[in-house]
Amino acid sequence: MDFAKKTLLLIISSLFMIQIAIAGDPDILTDFVLPPNSPPIDANFFTFTGMRALVSVPVPPTFKVVKATMEQFPALNGQSVSSAVLIFPPGSVNPVHTHPRSAELLFLVQGSLEVGFVDSTNKLFTQTLQQGDIFVFPKGLVHFQYNVDAKNPALAISGFGSANAGTVSLPNTLFNSTIDDSVLAMSFKTDVPTIQKLKAGLQG
Ligand SMILES: *[C@@H]1O[C@H](CO)[C@@H](O)[C@H](O)[C@H]1NC(C)=O
Repeated sequence: MDFAKKTLLLIISSLFMIQIAIAGDPDILTDFVLPPNSPPIDANFFTFTGMRALVSVPVPPTFKVVKATMEQFPALNGQSVSSAVLIFPPGSVNPVHTHPRSAELLFLVQGSLEVGFVDSTNKLFTQTLQQGDIFVFPKGLVHFQYNVDAKNPALAISGFGSANAGTVSLPNTLFNSTIDDSVLAMSFKTDVPTIQKLKAGLQG
């Protein structure tokens, strides 16, 4: 192959890489997307009131997340954004999980929070966030949040670059699905009773 052809190929392939790198949700060709057979809409369609239920209520007994994704808020369809409010009572954890379709930008509104993610080389990055801090969990990487404080709750608001970032909970995916016990035992280099014990803790 001559030099010009190689160069052209390189340019084309790097353009393709850039295209992949900037890819978010598919672009829409209209201002917004209405659900099928939708009646005429007004500003209410673009308003999500589901978080009102969180205003001036007591802290829940366990970790709680309230999502505003395409599912709960159909106006997000095609807009490549979504949000979630995360409430951590003292000592609670948001178990290890990933969002396959988006990075997560977490803003700690109240309290303090231990956060961490593991990159694809298995390196762990952890941080203790203070009220007012913003942390980014890169797209698709395994991460967690933990409110170590035994007395005070923590409150965070997360933004996502997808209308449907998806959540893959590792405990659930691995030990609360129907993957065969012996496959899991071999995968984790342990025995079936150990796997069954892990599974038992997640059921019910
Ligand atoms: C495990 O799966 C069951 C059935 O899908 C579900 O009801 C339960 O909430 C799951 N457990 C956890 C800890 O999410």
